[in-house]
Amino acid sequence: MLAVVPPPVTVRVPSKVNLHLAVGDLRPDGYHDLTTIFQALSLTDEVTVAIADEPGVEVHGEGADAVPTGASNLAWRAVQELARHVGRDPDEPKIRVVINKGIPVSGGMAGGSADAAATLVGLASLWRLDITRDELAGICAKLGSDVPFTLYGGTALGTGRGEKLVPVLSRHTYHWVLAFDRRGLSTPKVFTELDRLRDEGDPPRIGAVEPVLEALATGDPRQLALLLGNDLQAASVSLRPGLRRTLRAGVSAGALAGTVSGSGPTCAFLCSDGESALRVAAELAGAGVCRTVRVAHGPVPGARVIGGDETP
Ligand code: C5P
Repeated sequence: MLAVVPPPVTVRVPSKVNLHLAVGDLRPDGYHDLTTIFQALSLTDEVTVAIADEPGVEVHGEGADAVPTGASNLAWRAVQELARHVGRDPDEPKIRVVINKGIPVSGGMAGGSADAAATLVGLASLWRLDITRDELAGICAKLGSDVPFTLYGGTALGTGRGEKLVPVLSRHTYHWVLAFDRRGLSTPKVFTELDRLRDEGDPPRIGAVEPVLEALATGDPRQLALLLGNDLQAASVSLRPGLRRTLRAGVSAGALAGTVSGSGPTCAFLCSDGESALRVAAELAGAGVCRTVRVAHGPVPGARVIGGDETP
């Protein structure tokens, strides 16, 4: 009898922007305690998983050349981690992962993390696993600090390394313009630069998270714009001084406010509505301060199978 090979499964997964990113001191394990608010954005990657004789990862699209396709790719580590979790051989998964990137690589928008979360959701469906999203989130947390958020999406308060999540009430669709830089920035290097800046002096720290939660509950983008804050911004700007000009250009183009997204170098500009975002994007694209400009909105859902049944 012929074995029936299940059809490939494609998962769409969001990027993230941090509306608030407060970084605590360096911990003995090399991480920093965070208090952050994530918002999932409509700038997405699509990840297809399939049973294949030639296992591996292939990457297409935005910045694909800079992504490793070997065992160090986080999506491949996700395949191995899930295989191990369900008692399959982690060294012999006959799985091919095809990643179509829309999220900038090393851009501070959790692109690599998103691909790992999408791979887990896709495999859970392909292998017909009886596994809950919360169980998948446990595997996500082993893979990286931002992976659980891209699994759930929406708007969430993150603590610990960023992996402990609580959903946040958010009343509005927010419109963003994203400015991609010419090259990525390494997240560990940006955290190390912040430690260095803090050793040298006392760079200002962002305020409390509660006002941001209140602004999200009212749904007023103007109120939220006043409160966007990121402790990592000083460090990314120190490593990439040109970002100062990009941030100024977005606000001059009519955005309500701009912030470096996560560890950067992508700059995210909050706009009053979708039309304003299109105008800001057009002007910023002509200002010569970044490689590419995109518009996006949020919050959007987390990693989900497209064009079929979603399990779990
Ligand atoms: O968890 P993830 O692998 O994405 O983290 C990448 C690096 O970013 C860590 O090795 C660490 O240097 C830094 N990081 C940190 N504190 C966090 C998250 C990440 O210092 N909360």
